[in-house]
Amino acid sequence: MENLKLDTARVKALASDADLKAIKADAEAGLKKLHAGNGLGNDFLGWLNLPSSITEAEFADIEAAAKQMREVADYVVVVGIGGSYLGARAVIDGLSNSFDYLIRDRKNPVMLFAGQNIGEDYTADLLEFLQDKSFGIVVISKSGTTTEPAIAFRLLKELIEKKDGKAAAQKKIIAVTDKAKGALRTLATQEGYKTFVIPDNVGGRFSVLTPVGLVPIAIAGFDIRKLVAGAKDMEVATGENVPFEQNPSAIYAATRNILNRKGKEIEILVNYQPKLHYFTEWWKQLFGESEGKDGKGIFPAGVDFTTDLHSMGQWIQEGVRNIFETVVSVKNPNRKCVIPSDEANLDSLNFLAGKRIDEVNKMAELGTLIAHTDGGVPNFRVEIPELNEYYLGQLIYFFEKACGISGYILDVNPFNQPGVEAYKKNMFALLEKPGYEEATKAIKARL
Ligand code: PA5
Repeated sequence: MENLKLDTARVKALASDADLKAIKADAEAGLKKLHAGNGLGNDFLGWLNLPSSITEAEFADIEAAAKQMREVADYVVVVGIGGSYLGARAVIDGLSNSFDYLIRDRKNPVMLFAGQNIGEDYTADLLEFLQDKSFGIVVISKSGTTTEPAIAFRLLKELIEKKDGKAAAQKKIIAVTDKAKGALRTLATQEGYKTFVIPDNVGGRFSVLTPVGLVPIAIAGFDIRKLVAGAKDMEVATGENVPFEQNPSAIYAATRNILNRKGKEIEILVNYQPKLHYFTEWWKQLFGESEGKDGKGIFPAGVDFTTDLHSMGQWIQEGVRNIFETVVSVKNPNRKCVIPSDEANLDSLNFLAGKRIDEVNKMAELGTLIAHTDGGVPNFRVEIPELNEYYLGQLIYFFEKACGISGYILDVNPFNQPGVEAYKKNMFALLEKPGYEEATKAIKARL
């Protein structure tokens, strides 16, 4: 299997070979710190060797639980938020038929998501839809106390128990959480659910290759062994002893920091495949929560091209020159669709007749790449041969490793997220949660 390809040719105008040489030592030090486990946040480095350490027994346990769930449920609701949601969604959406949820006579359950918001309409719509459906639940929370998934799970649990009875419902619920701590662990033990453990040393946004991602992905019918195999090959390709010049994660991490030091404050992840929309969302969380702290960080944004060329393209081409792009490009589509010839040619499209749609997409990509770099927007390009489990695994690990190195170059702790607590504290104070009496008084005085 070949590896993903990182192309930095179109960032060179701003990040020269001399710049790269100058930052190389920082990137190498970052990589070393990750592997030596002596950098900031070193109690959350479990993701580093995860692909090569997943055992046959772990795969088999997940696959058996997935098989059982697939036998009892037509719909499976994955309940979780942030790192307990986006990885699974990114992979499932990336691999599914674009109209998956509309397909009848399907062999896989329909995967639905809840607990990633507290929209009342969303939740009510979902509960109403599931009233007469055979459904199961995978509830995922490392802390076991996150409000959004806790609310969704309480409602879904009530519905499934009402529909199927408590004993049958118990067999349709899987919990993925901490081995001992948190309300979800207590509840799952008490109710006798099948459970999977999120390792202590793996943070949410780095957890897609633990049961957090692997359980829903396996239930959706995808090959988790191939996903992990791709990540494992990237673990080798970005390893401690790989020279800087040959380590794609180190080069990417170093180069994006050069751009940042030269005033590029925003990185836009670009895809040309709508199925990668949630991969971008996963990537945004990975870099956003890892780097945005201590008054530092490159702001991670995302666009789906060519769709967003008709909305955001103007800004990217001619707006403030504080952005760069990273294009995730899929070399070969999985499906074939050829543009037909038309005798009347009233739409003047015969110049494209006989071409595959992907040929047009690729020329849009190349044309955009040239236009944006001409417009002062440096472009990385990360190419995978095709969109499948193996290459999504490579992409996941490539970006995780780059994120760790990049965080150390920036000199932040890439593995904590203290800022996420601020809104929760205010929300709990406003909701008068027991234990927040002082905060409630203080916040009410400000209203
Ligand atoms: O990356 C993170 O740590 C966060 O995004 C968490 O994953 C998210 O807040 C959900 O937390 P939990 O899994 O504890 O419910």
